[in-house]
Amino acid sequence: MTVPTHPPDSNRDEWQSKTGFILAAAGSAIGLGNIWRFPYTAGENGGGAFVLIYIGFVVLIGVPVLMAELALGRTSKSNAVGAFRIVSQAGAWPWVGYLGVATGLGILSFYSVVAGWTVTYLWHTLMGTFAGNIEAVSSTALFANITASPVVSVLTAALFLVLTASIVRQGISGGIEKASRYLMPFLLVILVVLLIRSVTLPGAGAGLTYLFSPDFSKLNGAVIISALGQALFSLSIGMGAMITYGAYLKTDTNIPRASAQIAGFDLVIALVAGMIVFPALFAADIPPDAGTGLIFVVLPTLFHAMPAGQIFGFLLYLLLAIAALTSTISLMEVVVTYLTDDRQWSRNRAVAIVGTIAFAFSVPSALAQGGNPFFTELPGLAMDFMTFQSVLWGNYALSLGGLLLCLFVGWKWTAKAAVNTLLLGASGFPGQLLWRFLIRYVCPSAILAILIYLIASGQTVQ
Ligand code: TRP
Repeated sequence: MTVPTHPPDSNRDEWQSKTGFILAAAGSAIGLGNIWRFPYTAGENGGGAFVLIYIGFVVLIGVPVLMAELALGRTSKSNAVGAFRIVSQAGAWPWVGYLGVATGLGILSFYSVVAGWTVTYLWHTLMGTFAGNIEAVSSTALFANITASPVVSVLTAALFLVLTASIVRQGISGGIEKASRYLMPFLLVILVVLLIRSVTLPGAGAGLTYLFSPDFSKLNGAVIISALGQALFSLSIGMGAMITYGAYLKTDTNIPRASAQIAGFDLVIALVAGMIVFPALFAADIPPDAGTGLIFVVLPTLFHAMPAGQIFGFLLYLLLAIAALTSTISLMEVVVTYLTDDRQWSRNRAVAIVGTIAFAFSVPSALAQGGNPFFTELPGLAMDFMTFQSVLWGNYALSLGGLLLCLFVGWKWTAKAAVNTLLLGASGFPGQLLWRFLIRYVCPSAILAILIYLIASGQTVQ
């Protein structure tokens, strides 16, 4: 088999517009991580202080790493594996790319199960299951029933993967860019409607205070590490998703500016999600540290207790489903671009096979909340299979991938050479010295700290 060692140039698909690219990359970043994971992680970690540290990490670590991935993708015009091979010429670096491809499949396989739950909830809100002010206890039972049902969980995950595949199949400009152009503005409209509803609830102020006024006595190592982990996951960095999206960029794109825009967009959406969730919780006197069930258990009862609540509940799950979809397409695209670039598969074949493999691995995750006793309580691990996947790929693999990427760009490709790429489309690039310092020293040290902490504590920092 011949593997290209130079950038392919003949009629490769490209983002048709800068806005289309920003919307697609922001779509990858904005996902369940912002709307589901961020609020409960902030809630469990004490609110304001976590949020402040999180913002610091997005700016100091997230944006520089995002720039590094996009630059690597654009310069090589190649996939997550090929980019390392083309830039390094020789050595074991492509293995960082293989890790990324595996991580993409791993995250896709459990993420689509949670995405499937949002589809089930959409259905229930449409059917009016929550109407009539049902009590929190039955909402808990409903969540348990949905997630424990093998048929519902497996089928909705499959449905979500089929939806993802139908977009990815149509390529970058005709599929992903087009879908993002419709879905992202729609997502923004829903967010604004929900935000207005939530902040005008009586008693909403306490929720906003919790989110925005830092109490530094709540800070400890675990909080800081979760804030950094959340920043990596939320920006879709550490596994080559942004290398892949960068590979379809035109040379004149201003990468530093685009990275700031994508990260800013992602951050604002996470904060807005927090501004929707916390006022609603505080208005109803519910503690903010309800964990993973926050969005699925607590919010439906709140929304449905208000006038026109069925509509707000429906919008909330539509929002989650759209956010999840623009993320699953980026996860699938990492693997698909690898197969079409490096293995010369047709896009249709790549999508069909990646979708099938992701589905096969999603089944044990779909059975992990009570559907099957083995996957619900993995022997010897004291966790369920979905949590195991999330920890393995979302924590360990992403941190390792992010660390190796920083070392590659900062030291092997060299930060100086990368700056030359960044200067294309960003003449002058005022922060270049700072960026070189961050990508060589600060980013890898911070990510290494996460990894050491994860390994030393054996902790499942989510
Ligand atoms: N960023 C997405 C979220 O916040 C998840 C995601 C999509 C992702 N693609 C990724 C995470 C690539 C890491 C790498 O929900």
